[in-house]
Amino acid sequence: MMDGIGRFHEQDKEAKKEFYSRDITRKVYYNSNFDLYLAEATNWRDTLSCVMAPRGPLPQQLPAVCRDIFIEYSNKVMKLGHTLLELFSEALGLNRSYLEDIGCGEGLFVMGHYYPPCPEPDLTLGTSSHTDSGFFTILLQDQIGGLQVRHQNQWLDVNSIDGALIVNLADMMQLISNDKFISVHHRVLANTRGPRVSVASFFRTHLLPENASILYGPIKELISQENPPLYRETTTKDFVPNYYFKGLDCKTLQYLKL
Ligand code: OGA
Ligand code: NI
Repeated sequence: MMDGIGRFHEQDKEAKKEFYSRDITRKVYYNSNFDLYLAEATNWRDTLSCVMAPRGPLPQQLPAVCRDIFIEYSNKVMKLGHTLLELFSEALGLNRSYLEDIGCGEGLFVMGHYYPPCPEPDLTLGTSSHTDSGFFTILLQDQIGGLQVRHQNQWLDVNSIDGALIVNLADMMQLISNDKFISVHHRVLANTRGPRVSVASFFRTHLLPENASILYGPIKELISQENPPLYRETTTKDFVPNYYFKGLDCKTLQYLKL
Protein backbone atom coordinates (compact mmCIF):
# COMPACT_ATOMS: atom_id res chain seq x y z
CA MET A 1 0.00 0.00 0.00
CA MET A 2 2.87 2.35 0.82
CA ASP A 3 4.46 1.58 -2.55
CA GLY A 4 1.12 2.08 -4.29
CA ILE A 5 0.54 5.51 -2.71
CA GLY A 6 4.15 6.47 -3.45
CA ARG A 7 3.69 5.36 -7.07
CA PHE A 8 0.57 7.45 -7.48
CA HIS A 9 2.17 10.63 -6.17
CA GLU A 10 5.39 10.14 -8.09
CA GLN A 11 3.68 10.02 -11.48
CA ASP A 12 4.05 13.08 -13.63
CA LYS A 13 1.54 15.92 -13.38
CA GLU A 14 -0.40 14.92 -16.45
CA ALA A 15 -1.29 11.53 -15.01
CA LYS A 16 -2.41 13.05 -11.71
CA LYS A 17 -4.42 15.85 -13.32
CA GLU A 18 -7.29 13.50 -14.06
CA PHE A 19 -7.77 12.97 -10.33
CA TYR A 20 -7.20 16.52 -9.17
CA SER A 21 -10.31 18.04 -7.66
CA ARG A 22 -11.43 20.22 -4.78
CA ASP A 23 -14.95 18.79 -5.04
CA ILE A 24 -15.37 16.91 -1.77
CA THR A 25 -18.50 15.14 -2.95
CA ARG A 26 -16.42 13.00 -5.31
CA LYS A 27 -15.54 9.43 -4.32
CA VAL A 28 -11.93 9.72 -5.45
CA TYR A 29 -9.87 12.89 -5.58
CA TYR A 30 -6.34 14.13 -5.35
CA ASN A 31 -5.38 17.53 -3.95
CA SER A 32 -3.24 19.46 -1.55
CA ASN A 33 -4.59 21.33 1.47
CA PHE A 34 -8.30 20.58 1.24
CA ASP A 35 -8.77 23.54 3.60
CA LEU A 36 -6.47 25.89 1.67
CA TYR A 37 -8.76 28.89 1.91
CA LEU A 38 -9.71 28.31 5.54
CA ALA A 39 -6.58 27.28 7.41
CA GLU A 40 -4.08 29.70 8.90
CA ALA A 41 -1.15 27.85 7.38
CA THR A 42 -0.61 25.76 4.28
CA ASN A 43 0.55 22.20 4.88
CA TRP A 44 3.42 20.53 3.02
CA ARG A 45 1.40 17.54 1.90
CA ASP A 46 -0.49 16.07 -1.04
CA THR A 47 -3.30 13.56 -0.66
CA LEU A 48 -5.18 10.99 -2.67
CA SER A 49 -8.56 10.58 -0.93
CA CYS A 50 -11.17 7.92 -1.45
CA VAL A 51 -14.54 7.08 0.04
CA MET A 52 -14.37 3.25 0.26
CA ALA A 53 -17.47 2.37 2.33
CA PRO A 54 -20.39 2.00 2.65
CA ARG A 55 -20.30 2.35 -1.09
CA GLY A 56 -16.86 2.54 -2.68
CA PRO A 57 -16.00 3.77 -6.15
CA LEU A 58 -16.06 1.57 -9.22
CA PRO A 59 -12.59 -0.02 -9.49
CA GLN A 60 -11.92 1.95 -12.67
CA GLN A 61 -12.45 5.21 -10.77
CA LEU A 62 -9.28 4.47 -8.76
CA PRO A 63 -5.87 5.29 -10.25
CA ALA A 64 -4.56 2.27 -12.14
CA VAL A 65 -1.12 2.45 -10.45
CA CYS A 66 -2.58 1.61 -7.02
CA ARG A 67 -6.08 0.28 -7.79
CA ASP A 68 -5.71 -3.36 -6.75
CA ILE A 69 -3.77 -2.71 -3.58
CA PHE A 70 -6.09 0.15 -2.59
CA ILE A 71 -9.07 -2.19 -2.72
CA GLU A 72 -7.26 -5.06 -1.00
CA TYR A 73 -5.85 -2.83 1.74
CA SER A 74 -9.22 -1.19 2.38
CA ASN A 75 -10.92 -4.56 2.72
CA LYS A 76 -8.31 -5.72 5.23
CA VAL A 77 -8.43 -2.48 7.20
CA MET A 78 -12.20 -2.76 7.33
CA LYS A 79 -11.91 -6.27 8.83
CA LEU A 80 -9.35 -5.10 11.38
CA GLY A 81 -11.62 -2.17 12.19
CA HIS A 82 -14.47 -4.51 13.02
CA THR A 83 -12.28 -6.45 15.43
CA LEU A 84 -11.16 -3.19 17.03
CA LEU A 85 -14.78 -2.11 17.45
CA GLU A 86 -15.43 -5.30 19.44
CA LEU A 87 -12.49 -4.48 21.68
CA PHE A 88 -13.59 -0.86 22.11
CA SER A 89 -17.10 -2.05 22.99
CA GLU A 90 -15.74 -4.38 25.64
CA ALA A 91 -13.43 -1.69 26.98
CA LEU A 92 -16.47 0.52 27.48
CA GLY A 93 -18.28 -2.29 29.32
CA LEU A 94 -20.77 -2.74 26.49
CA ASN A 95 -21.63 -5.94 24.70
CA ARG A 96 -19.18 -6.93 21.98
CA SER A 97 -21.25 -5.95 19.00
CA TYR A 98 -22.52 -2.67 20.42
CA LEU A 99 -20.41 -0.21 18.41
CA GLU A 100 -20.76 -2.23 15.22
CA ASP A 101 -24.54 -2.38 15.74
CA ILE A 102 -24.83 1.40 15.96
CA GLY A 103 -22.94 1.79 12.69
CA CYS A 104 -19.42 2.78 13.78
CA GLY A 105 -17.89 0.36 11.28
CA GLU A 106 -19.91 1.35 8.24
CA GLY A 107 -17.98 4.17 6.72
CA LEU A 108 -14.39 4.09 5.53
CA PHE A 109 -12.56 7.11 4.10
CA VAL A 110 -8.95 6.47 3.07
CA MET A 111 -6.34 9.18 2.58
CA GLY A 112 -2.98 8.35 0.98
CA HIS A 113 -0.63 11.15 2.03
CA TYR A 114 2.66 12.14 0.46
CA TYR A 115 4.91 14.65 2.23
CA PRO A 116 7.61 15.84 -0.18
CA PRO A 117 10.95 16.84 1.34
CA CYS A 118 10.53 20.40 2.58
CA PRO A 119 13.37 22.89 1.98
CA GLU A 120 12.37 25.12 4.92
CA PRO A 121 10.68 22.86 7.48
CA ASP A 122 10.70 25.54 10.17
CA LEU A 123 8.26 27.64 8.17
CA THR A 124 5.39 25.17 7.95
CA LEU A 125 4.07 21.77 9.03
CA GLY A 126 3.36 18.56 7.17
CA THR A 127 -0.05 18.39 8.87
CA SER A 128 -1.26 21.05 11.33
CA SER A 129 -2.46 20.10 14.78
CA HIS A 130 -5.93 18.53 14.71
CA THR A 131 -8.09 15.73 16.02
CA ASP A 132 -9.58 13.22 13.58
CA SER A 133 -13.21 13.20 12.56
CA GLY A 134 -15.20 10.00 12.72
CA PHE A 135 -14.92 7.18 15.23
CA PHE A 136 -11.31 6.07 14.87
CA THR A 137 -8.42 6.02 12.45
CA ILE A 138 -5.96 3.30 11.49
CA LEU A 139 -2.71 4.86 10.35
CA LEU A 140 0.15 3.30 8.45
CA GLN A 141 3.37 5.33 8.32
CA ASP A 142 6.84 4.81 6.90
CA GLN A 143 10.20 5.24 8.66
CA ILE A 144 10.75 8.96 7.98
CA GLY A 145 9.13 10.21 11.18
CA GLY A 146 7.53 13.53 12.09
CA LEU A 147 4.22 12.38 13.57
CA GLN A 148 3.60 13.79 17.05
CA VAL A 149 0.82 13.59 19.64
CA ARG A 150 -0.09 16.15 22.26
CA HIS A 151 0.23 14.80 25.78
CA GLN A 152 0.19 16.91 28.94
CA ASN A 153 0.91 20.07 26.99
CA GLN A 154 3.88 18.64 25.15
CA TRP A 155 4.41 17.26 21.68
CA LEU A 156 5.72 13.69 21.78
CA ASP A 157 7.15 11.82 18.77
CA VAL A 158 5.27 8.76 17.59
CA ASN A 159 8.20 6.74 16.37
CA SER A 160 7.70 4.38 13.55
CA ILE A 161 7.76 0.67 14.36
CA ASP A 162 8.25 -1.53 11.35
CA GLY A 163 5.05 -3.36 10.48
CA ALA A 164 2.97 -1.57 13.12
CA LEU A 165 -0.28 0.28 12.62
CA ILE A 166 -1.33 3.22 14.78
CA VAL A 167 -4.88 3.28 16.12
CA ASN A 168 -6.22 6.70 16.97
CA LEU A 169 -9.57 7.33 18.63
CA ALA A 170 -11.40 10.23 17.01
CA ASP A 171 -13.96 12.91 17.82
CA MET A 172 -17.16 10.91 17.31
CA MET A 173 -15.79 8.19 19.60
CA GLN A 174 -15.03 10.75 22.29
CA LEU A 175 -18.59 12.03 21.94
CA ILE A 176 -20.39 8.67 22.08
CA SER A 177 -18.12 7.38 24.88
CA ASN A 178 -18.85 10.57 26.83
CA ASP A 179 -15.13 11.27 27.29
CA LYS A 180 -14.22 7.71 28.36
CA PHE A 181 -12.16 7.71 25.16
CA ILE A 182 -10.30 10.86 24.20
CA SER A 183 -9.55 12.05 20.70
CA VAL A 184 -5.93 13.13 20.83
CA HIS A 185 -4.43 16.15 19.07
CA HIS A 186 -1.70 15.22 16.63
CA ARG A 187 0.34 16.78 13.84
CA VAL A 188 3.12 15.95 11.40
CA LEU A 189 6.29 18.03 11.23
CA ALA A 190 7.66 19.03 7.86
CA ASN A 191 11.00 17.41 7.16
CA THR A 192 13.98 17.98 4.88
CA ARG A 193 14.16 14.21 4.57
CA GLY A 194 11.57 12.45 2.56
CA PRO A 195 9.32 11.94 0.82
CA ARG A 196 7.24 10.59 3.70
CA VAL A 197 4.25 8.39 2.87
CA SER A 198 1.35 7.58 5.21
CA VAL A 199 -2.11 6.11 4.83
CA ALA A 200 -4.88 7.23 7.16
CA SER A 201 -8.06 5.11 7.15
CA PHE A 202 -10.92 6.92 8.86
CA PHE A 203 -13.89 5.00 10.15
CA ARG A 204 -16.63 7.45 9.38
CA THR A 205 -19.25 7.93 6.73
CA HIS A 206 -18.45 10.74 4.35
CA LEU A 207 -20.74 13.61 3.45
CA LEU A 208 -23.30 11.76 1.41
CA PRO A 209 -25.76 10.21 1.70
CA GLU A 210 -26.30 6.89 3.48
CA ASN A 211 -26.46 6.85 7.25
CA ALA A 212 -25.39 10.45 7.39
CA SER A 213 -28.48 11.36 9.36
CA ILE A 214 -28.22 8.76 12.17
CA LEU A 215 -28.16 10.62 15.47
CA TYR A 216 -25.11 10.02 17.68
CA GLY A 217 -24.90 11.16 21.27
CA PRO A 218 -23.35 9.86 24.49
CA ILE A 219 -24.26 6.15 24.75
CA LYS A 220 -27.17 5.72 27.17
CA GLU A 221 -25.51 2.80 28.99
CA LEU A 222 -22.59 5.06 29.87
CA ILE A 223 -24.75 7.81 31.32
CA SER A 224 -25.79 8.01 34.95
CA GLN A 225 -26.36 10.60 37.63
CA GLU A 226 -22.61 10.68 38.31
CA ASN A 227 -21.84 10.64 34.58
CA PRO A 228 -24.21 13.10 32.95
CA PRO A 229 -24.04 13.50 29.17
CA LEU A 230 -21.30 15.90 28.14
CA TYR A 231 -22.37 16.42 24.53
CA ARG A 232 -25.40 17.14 22.42
CA GLU A 233 -26.48 14.61 19.83
CA THR A 234 -25.23 15.12 16.30
CA THR A 235 -25.21 13.43 12.91
CA THR A 236 -22.28 12.77 10.58
CA LYS A 237 -24.09 15.01 8.15
CA ASP A 238 -23.70 17.90 10.58
CA PHE A 239 -20.34 16.86 11.93
CA VAL A 240 -18.10 15.95 9.01
CA PRO A 241 -18.69 19.09 6.88
CA ASN A 242 -17.16 21.19 9.65
CA TYR A 243 -13.75 19.94 8.59
CA TYR A 244 -14.40 21.11 5.07
CA PHE A 245 -16.04 24.41 5.86
CA LYS A 246 -14.01 25.42 8.89
CA GLY A 247 -10.70 23.65 8.29
CA LEU A 248 -8.77 20.74 9.74
CA ASP A 249 -8.55 22.11 13.28
CA CYS A 250 -12.25 22.88 13.54
CA LYS A 251 -12.75 21.94 17.20
CA THR A 252 -16.21 20.52 16.53
CA LEU A 253 -16.49 18.75 19.87
CA GLN A 254 -16.17 22.04 21.65
CA TYR A 255 -19.32 23.32 19.96
CA LEU A 256 -21.22 20.19 20.88
CA LYS A 257 -20.30 20.37 24.58
CA LEU A 258 -23.28 20.79 26.87
C1 OGA B 1 -4.55 12.50 9.23
C2 OGA B 1 -3.27 12.40 9.94
C3 OGA B 1 -1.00 11.63 9.99
C4 OGA B 1 0.06 11.17 9.08
O1 OGA B 1 -4.60 12.19 8.03
O2 OGA B 1 -5.55 12.88 9.87
O3 OGA B 1 -3.22 12.78 11.08
O4 OGA B 1 1.02 10.55 9.57
N1 OGA B 1 -2.21 11.88 9.31
O5 OGA B 1 -0.03 11.42 7.88
NI1 NI C 1 -5.17 12.98 11.88
